[in-house]
Amino acid sequence: MSSHNFTETHLAKFREICGNNNVVTKPELMSAHLTDWRKRYSGNAIAILFPENTSQIVAIIKYCQHQKVAITPQGGNTSTCGAATPLANHTAPQIIINLARMNKVIEVDRVNSSVTIEAGCTLQMVQEIAASHNLYFPLTLASQGTCQIGGNLATNAGGTQVLKYGMMRDLTLGLEVVLPNGNIMQNNHKLRKNNTYLDLKQIFIGSEGTLGIITRATLKLFPLPVNYLTFMLPVEKLVTALTLLEKLKHYYLNNVSAFEIIKDDSQKLYNQQFPDAKLPFTANWLLLAELEINADFNLDNFISLLESIGINPDDVLIASNDKQRRDLWLIREHIPLAEKAYGYAVKHDISLPLGKIEEFLATSMPKLRKIEADGYFSIFGHLGDGNLHYNFGKKGASLTDTEALEEQVSQIVYQDVINFGGSIAAEHGIGIAKKQWFKKYTPVENLELLQTLKKQLDPLNLFNPSKIL
Ligand code: MLT
Ligand code: ZN
Repeated sequence: MSSHNFTETHLAKFREICGNNNVVTKPELMSAHLTDWRKRYSGNAIAILFPENTSQIVAIIKYCQHQKVAITPQGGNTSTCGAATPLANHTAPQIIINLARMNKVIEVDRVNSSVTIEAGCTLQMVQEIAASHNLYFPLTLASQGTCQIGGNLATNAGGTQVLKYGMMRDLTLGLEVVLPNGNIMQNNHKLRKNNTYLDLKQIFIGSEGTLGIITRATLKLFPLPVNYLTFMLPVEKLVTALTLLEKLKHYYLNNVSAFEIIKDDSQKLYNQQFPDAKLPFTANWLLLAELEINADFNLDNFISLLESIGINPDDVLIASNDKQRRDLWLIREHIPLAEKAYGYAVKHDISLPLGKIEEFLATSMPKLRKIEADGYFSIFGHLGDGNLHYNFGKKGASLTDTEALEEQVSQIVYQDVINFGGSIAAEHGIGIAKKQWFKKYTPVENLELLQTLKKQLDPLNLFNPSKIL
């Protein structure tokens, strides 16, 4: 049979399994799924499948195993590392399995403070369903209206509330996963304690679609915060921000929920892109932080705390209502958009021990300046978690310009990150973007263990082939 005939046979089978409407082959409907959010990676596929339940996924996977069809699992397609984009030149035929039509809320258990959902629910749906029960799901990302829980799990997503609530891994009680052999791993329990040998769900959280497809999850819910103290302030030296963080954690314990930072070049990009919603101040660093507070909160004590470390309270903008709070968060959420609109930067999603961040910056920034004297540093992120989006770009750079710069820039950044005891992938994952660096900086024994696991679960290498490993 010719490859055309093979494709037609595959499509007929997929239509039989999922129904005609759930198998998309029209190029104009496929194109958004074949490119990543940043338009950095593009691939191809014979179809995009939108299964409606786990049984359909099992049937698709069994067929793909038999016919050696490669599978890219996809949620909201908001990965910044190309993890949800099929390959451009793969030898085997490829399909995308998109979970968008598996978006049922199965149960909200108020007594247990948990929600059980299908993996195609968007993050925002989960936040809203929790709020409608007077409960809170804390994962917060700019892409929350689009990204899906399955993708959040597959990448162990982080975001702005990790300081208090942790990453997706910390927010998960149970998972259902369809394995590459078509078996269903049933681990979708609601328990906060369960020591029955290894916690199998952990293998799949952060696996970026290489070991199976997450189809259902049970997530932790929390009491809705009573109120917030959200504030922004300019700081000249990072040490001031770090001292403030230490004081806040000491005084307010686990109620410091966010501690974000924005460097001056990112502020410029933002003001340029959003002239109608300019920043209230510009400075070497802008800090945006949030405390969860209740009726006992004493503003005078907070002001004394600021003064005790030399911060003038008059320099601090405190959101006085919900709209102001939302506006401050919108600024933070729009920083990556401003950067994207400006051009391609070489992006890094790194983390470092808090005490090493200043030294890292002082070491690495001058080296990058030497490569590109008028390059810009778009640095922002989750300082409270030691997680910086450390991006370096050249004004007006095209994708090709950036690609030429990337190897040299990343070489310096990642080596310094490793030298200071950090991670080259804090919250975005590896995907295609960091594959070579992951290989370089992962001990060979660890790589062997990961490869053993991959080979055991997916011997034909059909699940998100050529990603990560
Ligand atoms: C953020 O924190 O805004 C994102 O993780 C950064 C990004 O999308 O580049
Ligand atoms: Zn981030």
